[in-house]
Amino acid sequence: MTESTDFDLLARQFDALSESEHDRLALSANFVALLNSAFEDINWLGLYIRRGDELVLGPFQGLPACVHIPMGQGVCGTAAAQAETLRVDDVHAFDGHIACDPASNSELVVPLISGEQVIGVLDIDSPQHARFTAADQAGAELLCHRFVRALEAGGRPLDEFICPDCRTPPCGCRP
Ligand code: SME
Repeated sequence: MTESTDFDLLARQFDALSESEHDRLALSANFVALLNSAFEDINWLGLYIRRGDELVLGPFQGLPACVHIPMGQGVCGTAAAQAETLRVDDVHAFDGHIACDPASNSELVVPLISGEQVIGVLDIDSPQHARFTAADQAGAELLCHRFVRALEAGGRPLDEFICPDCRTPPCGCRP
C-alpha cells in the first residue's frame, strides 16, 4: 500500500529551501530532489523546460530520459499544449505515450504556468498502474504553483527559465 504524501509539509519545506534563493537552476534541482524524496513507488521525477515549440529535459531523478519532446506529443507535450494536468492510470493505453523507462506504467504531468504561459512541466512516473490519486494531483499542482512563484521572485523573464547559454542576454538563469 502506497503511503500518501504530506503536501502541506512538503510546501513548507520547499518554501524554506527557496527563501531568498533566486538561482533558477539551483531552485529547480532542489524542487525535484525534494519531491522525489516525498513520493513512494515512483521510478522517475523531473522537469521539462519549454523552449519554443518543444520541451527540453531539465533536472530529474531516475534513469536517463528522452531530451526533446515536441509540444503536443507524448503525455508531457500534450499536458503542456493543453495547459492542463494529465493523470494517466495506464500509459500504455495513452495514444502517443513516449516510453523513456520501460518500468513506467502510470504518469502524472503538471504544467508549470506563469501568467498565461506554459514554461515547462513536472513529470512523475510510477511502475504501479493507477499510482496517482486525485490528492496527489492537487498536491503536485500546489507545489508546482509554489515553484513557479519562487522562479518569478527573481523578477526576470521566465521563458526558457533554465537557459541554454548563460552568457547570452537576456539570461533568465542567474540573479
Ligand atoms: N512519458 C513521457 C516522456 C518523458 S518520460 O516519461 C521521462 C511522455 O509520454 O511525454
